Amino acid sequence: MGYLIAGNWKMNGSRGSAISLASGLVARANAAQMQLPGIVLCPPGPLLPTVISAISGSAIAAGGQDCHAKDKGAHTGDTSASLLADIGCRYVIVGHSERRADHGETDAAVRAKAEAALKAGLIPIICVGETDAERDRGGTDAVVTRQIKGSIPAGVTAGAIVVAYEPVWAIGTGRTATSGDIASVHALIRKVFGGEVSVLYGGSVKGNNAAEILAIPGVSGALVGGASLDLDDFWRIVEACPHGK
Ligand code: 13P
Repeated sequence: MGYLIAGNWKMNGSRGSAISLASGLVARANAAQMQLPGIVLCPPGPLLPTVISAISGSAIAAGGQDCHAKDKGAHTGDTSASLLADIGCRYVIVGHSERRADHGETDAAVRAKAEAALKAGLIPIICVGETDAERDRGGTDAVVTRQIKGSIPAGVTAGAIVVAYEPVWAIGTGRTATSGDIASVHALIRKVFGGEVSVLYGGSVKGNNAAEILAIPGVSGALVGGASLDLDDFWRIVEACPHGK
């Protein structure tokens, strides 16, 4: 199972910044002497064609930040997984905590989106993670267990999906979970899932803490927000992936 570094640009960027970031990454990937991890860029939807054209022919992949559970129809403002696949995406993030919070997405809704992604031939990056309040009352394991059971399609094989553990309190705050907590939640996720699924860590992963986080047992890569908007910082995270795994 190789490492995966995914950049979630969230609602940031412009055509100009997307071209310079994506083409800068392609130049670094092409010049790299090391064995690279998988790299995925998830820009806002309108920038996907720009990014896909900039990464064309490179080892870098593109992904959506969300998809609808249905394949088509009267769903103004939404995007289907099949359209994401059609324009050249290989991944799609589903169930990000910002979508769970801002759009009231339940575990069942997230699972339906993941099913749509699988049907479209995409790899869903299924996000889970507890809030500050849930953690404070000792509920991390229960919340993550419920999310894994509720959000992952039944019977899916480990290789068809990626899970991202993103403690909500660590997103955009500069706080990260301890190595012990990350290792234990990643082990819990695999136990509840029942297989060797790839589990990314997300939440304030930066160039200066990536090596430490990526070396934690059970961490398969990172889902990076803020630092993915900076070419140098994102590339430091890519380079921090341990070799030979
Ligand atoms: P930050 O890296 O900005 O904390 O965001 C993490 C995240 O939510 C990625 O999906």
